[in-house]
Amino acid sequence: MRFFVTALFGLVIALLGYHGHARLGGVTASASKAPVSDHVPLVEQNFVKINRKGLSKMISDCFNLYYQYLSMANYFGRADVALPGFQKFFTTSAERELTRAKDMMEYMNKRGGTLDLLPIKKPVTGDFSDGRSALDLARRLSRKLNARALVNHNIAVSKRDPNLKLFYEETIIDGQVDVIKELGDLITRLDLMNKSQRGGLALYMFDLELQK
Ligand SMILES: *[C@@H]1O[C@H](CO)[C@@H](O)[C@H](O)[C@H]1NC(C)=O
Repeated sequence: MRFFVTALFGLVIALLGYHGHARLGGVTASASKAPVSDHVPLVEQNFVKINRKGLSKMISDCFNLYYQYLSMANYFGRADVALPGFQKFFTTSAERELTRAKDMMEYMNKRGGTLDLLPIKKPVTGDFSDGRSALDLARRLSRKLNARALVNHNIAVSKRDPNLKLFYEETIIDGQVDVIKELGDLITRLDLMNKSQRGGLALYMFDLELQK
């Protein structure tokens, strides 16, 4: 009796298994017959090639900036340089660029585009110990990034892609105006303090008094 029950149970399992397999097979067969066009990204709409490529390039630019600023932050953290303020400034700058790169990658997926990343360049290294040369480099690179964002923005406008246009404004251009202004201010103040013989430091300290 026990043998009979076990055999019956085995038979039921086998039948269920066969049935399940057949159903799976059916799904596979019908999927393979699906037209290729079904695999085209479902969300892509009005996101033309020149805009997709421009966005990929922009993402790579931000990764390059991230790498550059990270390397500078590390430089200012060195025991023989030891400028924690500059280290903090470049750490924050690096994080901003990484956030932008990630936001753009997410946007690329949202629009159904395919990411085409470029290799990351070796950061510029050298003697930044006066602080001024590091700020100069940052200002130059920030302007370059903004110039590219403006070009991409104009292409988005000319290709009638208002969503991308707005995205560039919110992610790069609006913030970048402040970044460039801040770098300009920092450079001016550093130069002022450096003119110590001509009362530069006195003027800087006096201005701090006025801010109280
Ligand atoms: C400060 O001024 C001196 C003399 O003009 C210059 O050599 C030096 O590079 C300046 N330092 C900074 C941080 O700008």
